[in-house]
Amino acid sequence: MIHSRIVGTGSHLPEKILTNFDLEKMVDTTDEWIRTRTGIERRHIAADGETTVDLAEHAARRACEAAGIKPTDVDFIAFGTTTPDLVFPNCGTLLQERLGCRGVPAFSVETACAGFMYALSIADKYVRCGDSKRALVVGAETLSRITDWSDRSTAILFADGAGAVVLAPSEEAGIVSTHLHSDGFYKDLLYCGSGVSKGFGEGKPLLSISMAGSEVFKVAVTTLGKAVDEALGVNGLGRGDIDWLVPHQANIRIIQAMARKLDLPLERVVITVQDHGNTSAASVPMALDVAVRDGRIKRGDLLLLEAFGGGFTWGSALIRY
Ligand code: UT7
Repeated sequence: MIHSRIVGTGSHLPEKILTNFDLEKMVDTTDEWIRTRTGIERRHIAADGETTVDLAEHAARRACEAAGIKPTDVDFIAFGTTTPDLVFPNCGTLLQERLGCRGVPAFSVETACAGFMYALSIADKYVRCGDSKRALVVGAETLSRITDWSDRSTAILFADGAGAVVLAPSEEAGIVSTHLHSDGFYKDLLYCGSGVSKGFGEGKPLLSISMAGSEVFKVAVTTLGKAVDEALGVNGLGRGDIDWLVPHQANIRIIQAMARKLDLPLERVVITVQDHGNTSAASVPMALDVAVRDGRIKRGDLLLLEAFGGGFTWGSALIRY
C-alpha cells in the first residue's frame, strides 16, 4: 500500500505590511477592536502588479528546495485559489510554466478558504494510486484585490500570501486521511458577487467580498467542531491524541474554540493570524511552513489541519508529519 507524505514545505508573504493602526486611518475602527475580535495585528498586502502566481512561485520554490527536488521534477500541481491571475489558463498551469515542469497535470480548485484542503486531498489520492511521485500542492491568494477597503467589516480581515507543500510516496502513512465537505445552501453568507458569466468590467466594477460575519462565525465553529470529530473518529483517535492543530487562520476566537474541542493547550496550536490575517487558501500551508521551519513541528508529530470558507466549503486532514 502506497501512502503520501509531506517532504517539503514553503511559504511567501508580500513585502508590504498593513497594521491595524494603518487601518485606523482608513476606516472607522481601532487596533483594540480588531485585536480582541479577531486576533489580527498586521497583514501583508501584494504590491501593485504582484499576482497570486508571483507569490505562489516563491512558496513553491521553497517547498521544492526543502524537499530536495528541482522544480522541474514536480510531476503534478494542485493549486487552491479564489483570486486567480487570469480566468484562464488556470494558476496551476501558469505556475507550471514558471517552474518548467512541462506536460504534467496542473489545475486550480476554487473552494475559497478550503482551497488548500481540497488540493491536498486530490494530490494525496494521485500519489497513493501511484500516478504522482512529486506532487506540488499550493494555496495562494491576493484577497486584497477583492476587498472593499472602505468596508470596516471585511477590510480588517483579509490579506495576501502563499504556501506550498511537496508530497511524495511513502511506505508509512503521512497523510493519514482527508475529509472534504461543502454546503451551497450557505452561499449568501459569504461570497464575492462578480463572475465571468455574471459579467464585470465595461461599467460593471469587480465586486468585493460580502460576509455576514457573525453568522459565518457561528456556523464555522459548529462545522469545524464536527470536522474535527470526523477526522478523529474515522481514525479511532480521541481528544488529546493530536500533537499540533494547524487551523485556518480566520479568527483567534474560532481557533481557540477548536483548541478547546481537541483538549489542546494553545501552545500546541499554530497561530499566525496575528501576523498574516485571513489569507484564505494560503492560510493553512503558510502556518504549517512557519511551524516546520521554526522547529515546533517535528517528524513523527500528528497534525490536524482544518479550514472553512465561502460556499460553505470545509475540510480537514490528519497527518503524521
Ligand atoms: O475565512 C472564511 C470564514 N470567515 C470567518 O470565519 C469569519 C467569521 N467571522 C468573524 O470572524 C467575526 O464575525 C468578525 C470578526 C467578522 C466580526 O466579529 P463579531 O464579533 O461577529 O462582530 P459583529 O459583526 O457582530 O459586530 C459587532 C459590532 C457591530 O456594532 P453594533 O451593531 O454592535 O453597534 C459592528 O458594526 O462591531 C461593529 N464592527 C466594528 N467596530 C469596529 C464591525 N466591524 C468593526 C470594525 N471596527 N472593524
